[in-house]
Amino acid sequence: MSTRQMKLYDKANSILEIRQDARDYQNVFERIRRLCDAFDKHPASAYETSIIKQACDDVVAGSAAGEAARFALREHVVEEIGRLSDEELPRYICYRYRYDVFPYKKQLDDFPPCLQIEPASICNYRCVFCYHTDRELTLPKNGYMGLMTLELFKKVIDQAEGKCEALSLASRGEPLINRDIEDMLAYAAGKFLALKINTNAWFLDERKSHAILQAGVSTLVFSADAASEPLYSQLRVNGKLDRILANIRQFQEIRAHHYPDSITITRVSGVRFGDDQNLDDMEQFWGDLVDQVAFVKYNPWENTYDRPVNDVTTPCSDLWRRMFVWWDGTINPCDVDYLSTLAVGDADNEELSEIWNGDKYNALRKAHLACRRNSITPCMRCTFV
Ligand SMILES: C[S@@+](CC[C@H](N)C(=O)[O-])C[C@H]1O[C@@H](n2cnc3c(N)ncnc32)[C@H](O)[C@@H]1O
Ligand code: SF4
Repeated sequence: MSTRQMKLYDKANSILEIRQDARDYQNVFERIRRLCDAFDKHPASAYETSIIKQACDDVVAGSAAGEAARFALREHVVEEIGRLSDEELPRYICYRYRYDVFPYKKQLDDFPPCLQIEPASICNYRCVFCYHTDRELTLPKNGYMGLMTLELFKKVIDQAEGKCEALSLASRGEPLINRDIEDMLAYAAGKFLALKINTNAWFLDERKSHAILQAGVSTLVFSADAASEPLYSQLRVNGKLDRILANIRQFQEIRAHHYPDSITITRVSGVRFGDDQNLDDMEQFWGDLVDQVAFVKYNPWENTYDRPVNDVTTPCSDLWRRMFVWWDGTINPCDVDYLSTLAVGDADNEELSEIWNGDKYNALRKAHLACRRNSITPCMRCTFV
């Protein structure tokens, strides 16, 4: 298939549309400007200082810096910064620059800008646009389904703490299925500035709501793609809108009553799959219960291995952005490859930083940089850039 005939999936712009109450952008901008003017007051290493300086210059230069700089204050980033203290700001800016810009400069250091951990690969839903529709993945005898142990989780967190600010708890399955999720959250609490969970909200009960709020999760994504039935359960197969609405409402009440100073940003995020979804309806339905309502771009995950081979030659940016730790310790460079044909390591037996800079990962990056993604499965069929 020709690149002209298909759409590339640009990770930097995966959020199609987002609505939230207007943040004081100017205030955030001024805080960053003050940070630029007072580097010597911030305890950062020379390496961090150089990154923060570059990031601040890009923000202050604004659009004049051009698309190449890639470091701009997007709406959801402004919202995250708005909830951080001035002391936390340098660390956050450093992380965000590594996350946004390193993948395009093809720059690496000793740890990925973002670590994505999968507490469970199992899911109770079978969303039409998700790889959970592939029996190859979900048949228990194939060995892909499972739950991460608390022991492995702690081992991974111990290596990531201080090296990485972005930790996402979710990849191929539903994280709240893991019975240890409350202990996992407690263990990760206070160690990351951008702690995120994506959940379908089916198992979001009172205890889990408290655990999420006590852990200071930065962004809690409720994945829901519709504002009414039957559309919700046609897309989120096995789900029921009534139940998740009640769970999200309960979460909101717990937050309002017990954690009025919570920093957690809540977002209802849908996958834009068809023409019958629209953000006005979503905002009207969900807007009073959460801080943000958004649609993300659909990525045809569910046919990763069957799609036609394409002629994309742009390297995949995720190879420089995120590393995935799956429930059994398998380290995968991406989640489009949900059957882990690209596995690059094993968190149970190897150090994460060694895997990130290891031969297998680097060979993959080298092939992408040499315009040879078409020699690799499933990169040859993927449009992620
Ligand atoms: C795979 S899910 C796992 C976490 C959890 N089960 C959930 O649904 O939030 C992670 C995120 O990917 C989104 N997602 C699922 N299929 C997608 C697709 N084909 N394209 C883009 N995003 C997708 C989900 O809506 C969710 O926010
Ligand atoms: S998108 Fe989430 S809830 Fe839906 S099937 Fe995939 S993992 Fe499960």
